[in-house]
Amino acid sequence: MQRAKRAPGLPGDLWKAAFSALEPSSRVRLNAYSPSFPVVGSRCDGFYLPDCRNLVLSSLFSADGTVSPSMRRRELMKSAAAGLLVTTASDAAPILSTELKFPTDFAWGVSTSALQIEGSLAADGRGPSIWDNVNGGVSRSPPEPAASHYRLWHEDIRLLQMLGVSAYRYSIAWPRLFPKASAPLNEAGLAFYDRLTDAVLSVGVEPWVCLHHWDLPEWVQQQGGWIRRDTVERFLEYARTVVRRLGDRVRHWIPLNEPNIVAYAGYGAGVWPPKLMNEEFFFDAVHHQNLAIGRLCRELRQPGWQVGPVLALGPIRPASGDARDVAAAELQRLVLEDAFLGPILLGHYPEALKIRMAPLLADGDLGTIHRAADFIGINYYGPMYRRAWPGAPFSNDGNVKLEGSPVTDGKIVIDPEGLGEILRLLRDHYDNPPVVITENGAAFDENVQDAQIQDQNRIAYLRAHLQVANRELSTGSNLRGYFVWTLLDDWEWTSGYDLKYGLVHVNFETGDRRPKSSFDWYSSTIRSARD
Ligand code: FCB
Repeated sequence: MQRAKRAPGLPGDLWKAAFSALEPSSRVRLNAYSPSFPVVGSRCDGFYLPDCRNLVLSSLFSADGTVSPSMRRRELMKSAAAGLLVTTASDAAPILSTELKFPTDFAWGVSTSALQIEGSLAADGRGPSIWDNVNGGVSRSPPEPAASHYRLWHEDIRLLQMLGVSAYRYSIAWPRLFPKASAPLNEAGLAFYDRLTDAVLSVGVEPWVCLHHWDLPEWVQQQGGWIRRDTVERFLEYARTVVRRLGDRVRHWIPLNEPNIVAYAGYGAGVWPPKLMNEEFFFDAVHHQNLAIGRLCRELRQPGWQVGPVLALGPIRPASGDARDVAAAELQRLVLEDAFLGPILLGHYPEALKIRMAPLLADGDLGTIHRAADFIGINYYGPMYRRAWPGAPFSNDGNVKLEGSPVTDGKIVIDPEGLGEILRLLRDHYDNPPVVITENGAAFDENVQDAQIQDQNRIAYLRAHLQVANRELSTGSNLRGYFVWTLLDDWEWTSGYDLKYGLVHVNFETGDRRPKSSFDWYSSTIRSARD
């Protein structure tokens, strides 16, 4: 069996070392109840435990938060960590769009997702999703009207045509098709995507259909959501319905968007729906989503089709050279990256998680997941910085502010070289699978009073990332496409309407659309790169 190799210069065996350094009794404590880690805010009655079992990598820290003896050896890692920190934001020199050359069959696209743009939540029999009321009811940034795409989709098809993309990644809303438990297919919901797909094709754009982008039907969550293995079956039933209808036209499929963030933020850290904070649930959600991906990719295997998952990937770096922060970052990488890339590309869970995952594995699961996908989609925005926080989920504080680094409005550190790191990680350590950058973009506020909305900072961001992508492609990365996030200003989850990512400005009251300067820039970039 192939072994995961680590990125050069990273403290690769740190966790393995930490685990083996623990006394057997401490290893038992890895499954112990941690009173400092309570379950909060369950929306899934009957599926949370009265206590919370915890991976308790925080047991590497003593109660007062000081480092345990087993951590001392990690002092050695300090210098490595300090080395990592120098690779933060870089000032990529602006380049002319005409300098970018990509293969002729490279997919040039934009991505959107159903709940973020559609609105019309009560139209045509749609049911509720777990995200509908995340911001607390109608007055506080609900995904209604979002960008009114359900009503104005014709205009958006025209925009795709003007933009000149070759590919459009959009998602299907599961709650529009299956609004209630045991309800039959809601034909009106599916008919919308049928028309939309025809329209996408009619302007010469290739549809890339994402089957599930976070908007899990409320009824699926009430049955346990991704905690339950059965949800894989529910997902497959839904997915097959879509594929039966659109499969005569759609050749590119994405089973799930960012299952790593869903598992982490939704089930482990409890910050996003379904707001469960429980490390056991996290591992359930990891495996069941990996299985859903593997099963669907295998079912959809046929000549000319491309099926692959999309993961949120970015370098995960310690916030300081302190050994505890180094460990927190490494743990984060284990759960956000290795727990997905391991089974999907190497056929096994990372060593440090094997005991944890074993009870979840049925015969054949790993074989089903391993190399089932035709490509790996990467959503890249920027690197993540982690600081140790004993007692917090996964012992880490993700809310790290780095002084002096350029950031977007979403407080994401701008670091195009981080994209290069991820592309090289996949190239050098995972046997160079076909990869597609399925999301890349930046939120910036712009002056919408100007006749032409000048979003030069977005152009600079996109240009710098494309430049890195182009360089990695020419040095052997198996990169097949690039999708900007996103076509329209939209509803950005817990940030509501505050973060503007669109190439097109949307007036949320009237639905009016106005292409920004970045729209023109991307359009001419695509044209010249394809010439
Ligand atoms: C990604 C999500 C996408 C969008 C961007 C900004 O993580 O997949 O829906 O919100 O972030």
